[in-house]
Amino acid sequence: MKKSLRILGYVVGLLVLAVAGFATYVAARGIPNYDLQPAPLAAIEATPGRVELGEKLVLASCADCHRNAKTNSLSGQQLMDLTPDFGKVYSANITQDKTHGIGNWSDAQLVSLLRTGVGPNGRFRVIMPNFVHMSDEDMASVVAFLRSDNALVRATPTPSHAQEPSFLLKALTNTVMKPTPAPTAPIAAPPATNAVAYGNYLVVGRYKCYECHSKDFGTNNSLEPARSEGYLGGGNALLNMQGETVLSRNITSEPETGIGDWTEAQFAQAVKFGMTPHGPLAYPMPKYSRLTDEEVHALYAYLQTVPKIKNATPEDGVVAVR
Ligand code: HEC
Ligand code: HEC
Repeated sequence: MKKSLRILGYVVGLLVLAVAGFATYVAARGIPNYDLQPAPLAAIEATPGRVELGEKLVLASCADCHRNAKTNSLSGQQLMDLTPDFGKVYSANITQDKTHGIGNWSDAQLVSLLRTGVGPNGRFRVIMPNFVHMSDEDMASVVAFLRSDNALVRATPTPSHAQEPSFLLKALTNTVMKPTPAPTAPIAAPPATNAVAYGNYLVVGRYKCYECHSKDFGTNNSLEPARSEGYLGGGNALLNMQGETVLSRNITSEPETGIGDWTEAQFAQAVKFGMTPHGPLAYPMPKYSRLTDEEVHALYAYLQTVPKIKNATPEDGVVAVR
């Protein structure tokens, strides 16, 4: 045998051993735990204003995943719109039940989980989105609502389902899917009078439109959202409840493939009620029916300022693939 071939043989052998070692490690370790203490936090005061805003935010950003049709509360369910490559993932019971829900969690524990993805026992919550750039006031409003007497969060004694992650999901959580660092300074939303800055906040902090509307969850940059690949240019392959692919759309102001030719009134109809010049919008595009005119205006103003991307999706006559 030639010497070079023999060396190649050793290299391949070592690689196989390394891969097998990593696979055994991942399979045994599963989804990793993290030693993370929640940052101290003064108890959150549940003012009526916060509870009302919190309801709007939870309906917009949490209920699609956490609402259970049988209990009609946020008692958790299997996520049907997740790729089967990740195994079976279940959202948790986040009602006030003290055993099965979050009734016994402190405000600091809740906020820490929402910011970083790591829960009280150190377990990293998978697929649960992180709310890194949400303002402290919005965060307080979400928590105030979770503690309110609204029927969605009343104590529901349904145990959360254990996760059934695939090997792929375990491998990802041991490599690229990591907790996000907790913020080190207070986070305030810009004033609504500065429409562009406020719109930017809504897109990356409050509603996180960019997560679905950039190229791919895998290349999103949660610490610096505007650096996500294809920022707001659409084409992210999402799934509906039947597991069919629905591509997100280009919401930059590129005139042909984006929404550059839309009026603000058309934009408002689309984000609030799912009605567009091309017809109705389907799940998973949320219906933000409670958006204020101020919010719609800010979103529209900001989207006109982001770099235009030319990227056609089905409403432009392209057939969905994958
Ligand atoms: C994309 C779907 C999705 C969205 C949107 C979502 N969650 Fe979750 N959430 C999950 C999943 C899945 C888990 C369970 C993860 C695990 O156990 O590893 C979870 C876990 C949690 C937990 C931890 C509960 C426990 O007992 O471990 C809390 C609290 C929570 N979510 C609150 C929220 C709030 C508040 C919002 C909105 C601001 C929200 N979630 C939005 C999917 C989602
Ligand atoms: C959970 C993922 C998700 C989130 C979050 C989301 N969208 Fe969408 N959006 C979609 C999908 C998917 C479509 C395409 C639906 C279809 O094909 O019927 C869409 C379509 C749209 C359209 C229609 C564009 C066109 O050309 O027809 C607009 C406008 C839009 N979204 C704006 C927003 C804004 C603004 C936000 C944040 C306030 C947002 N979306 C948040 C998934 C999402």
